[in-house]
Amino acid sequence: MATEIDRPAITAAIRALTHGETDTVALMATVVCEIHHAHPFADWTGFYRVTAPDLLKIGPYQGGHGCLVIPFSRGVCGAAARSGQIQNVSDVEAFPGHIACSSSTRSELVLPVWNGQGKLLGVLDLDSDTPTAFATADEDWLAPLLAEVFHDAV
Ligand code: SME
Repeated sequence: MATEIDRPAITAAIRALTHGETDTVALMATVVCEIHHAHPFADWTGFYRVTAPDLLKIGPYQGGHGCLVIPFSRGVCGAAARSGQIQNVSDVEAFPGHIACSSSTRSELVLPVWNGQGKLLGVLDLDSDTPTAFATADEDWLAPLLAEVFHDAV
């Protein structure tokens, strides 16, 4: 699906806002805000943080309330954290174990987030009420951007 999204402009804004910042939550809050308000299909945008072995907890987000706790064994977010692979799910109803925090969600893009030392910090979860909302271009754009922004995150 074509998206009217100015990826270079969002990247520039995120780079400018996060320059020199290393605090993980400050970085997450800023990234979420910029993406959520600029991406036409992002109806819920947020981070889940690794807070214990095999456990994700809600981090900064925009949209309606999100589930607070997601084990690595569950959902699209859990699959991304467990496998270290981007999950681009065009139809959440076809994804075994999908966690429906919002019944309106139709598609999701979840990317694992590491710092430069290879520590898994969490996942970025983009949820849309539109089916097949997220393109390969979103994956190719966000994966290197997250690696760059969270390189020195502590
Ligand atoms: N749907 C996600 C859970 C997170 S929320 O929808 C905010 C999942 O299956 O991982």
